[in-house]
Amino acid sequence: MLDVKKIREDFPILKREVNGNPLIYFDNAATSQTPQVVIDAIVDYYSNYNANIHRGVHSLSQEATDAYEEARIKIQKHFNAAKPYEIILTAGTTHAINLVAHGFASILKEGEEILVSALEHHSNIVPWQMLCEKTGAILKVIPQTESGELDMDAFAKALSPNLKLVFVNHVSNALGTINPIEHIIKEAHKVGATVLIDGAQATPHIKPDVQALDADFYVCSAHKICGPTGVGILYGKEEWLTKLPPYQGGGEMIDQVSFEKTTYAGLPHKFEAGTPNICGGIATGAGLDYMNAIGFDNIARYEDELLQYGTEKLLEIEGLKIYGTSAHKTAVISFNVGNIHPYDIGTILDKLGIAVRTGHHCAQPIMEYYKIPGTVRASFSFYNTKEEIDTFVAGLKRAVTMLS
Ligand code: ALA
Repeated sequence: MLDVKKIREDFPILKREVNGNPLIYFDNAATSQTPQVVIDAIVDYYSNYNANIHRGVHSLSQEATDAYEEARIKIQKHFNAAKPYEIILTAGTTHAINLVAHGFASILKEGEEILVSALEHHSNIVPWQMLCEKTGAILKVIPQTESGELDMDAFAKALSPNLKLVFVNHVSNALGTINPIEHIIKEAHKVGATVLIDGAQATPHIKPDVQALDADFYVCSAHKICGPTGVGILYGKEEWLTKLPPYQGGGEMIDQVSFEKTTYAGLPHKFEAGTPNICGGIATGAGLDYMNAIGFDNIARYEDELLQYGTEKLLEIEGLKIYGTSAHKTAVISFNVGNIHPYDIGTILDKLGIAVRTGHHCAQPIMEYYKIPGTVRASFSFYNTKEEIDTFVAGLKRAVTMLS
């Protein structure tokens, strides 16, 4: 059982008002809120040991380096990566995906196939389209079904020796569907394809074991797991990270530089050119500590209760349609009411202090599938409550009456 009242005390932002009403924050799929321990870690870094890392013999630099590398080890343990240097710290999920896509430009050949899913965020579509433009590779798509799940028969048919790369999200950001990534990875490996999993929406709810999954790459963002913005996590198998060329050139990613030839540093530094987000990396470790102390099983169980409760309450509203009805979902409810535009609903909810995301959620192909301009998306976290859902549903009913 979660002590949600106590947990809410850890998040200073939950005490604020928006437009004269207590904030109800249901936009957790966009970014999670930040607990005081993470804010404290940021303040502590800048107050006490702000220095550049891996560069100085002086004490501050050493302290900062130690804290940054300790954070990498925390992340390694959290994801059960075999080695700390299989964890690359990036600027976000998008950066991590682009890093991998850039690397495959020198590996992929014309006519070879890349498979993405119809449920992807634009960040797991566009980099692969760019890669296809560069290499002449062919982009194929696993279609979705009406319930917002992947068409697994179509996936099976897409498997061939010509398939080289598969990119699928663990959880759909627009619908909340949890995709069968274990099966996808296993089957893709049988035909020799390499698999990248976008875990940005899964990691706030599920603790992935990258070795058990046998994922070649697994990426996510710190700001959705109680950490700061501007930090991404790229897990890659050692063999792949060794094979891929560096993404950016610069300081700290080199072994030797001369005007005739440069040799690169080993992992993870080869992919971490320039001064990284040192404070952000350290705060990411603090965010993971915080969530692990609560426990991911507890988080998932409680959020599932919120999902069931919210779904039931919302379906009482006449004309409300939920998009994404898989039995395997995180606490995301994407919906429309009749022909009311999602922006209008979102604007009225904001006046009531309720934050939801509206629009296409950077997943236009999903909207195209349902022939809608967008949805209203309410996404719950472990610090939300059933009482907040009641206030949200009452506010939504008011909005619908005003807009009908
Ligand atoms: N990808 C984030 C979302 O789904 C921003 O809202």
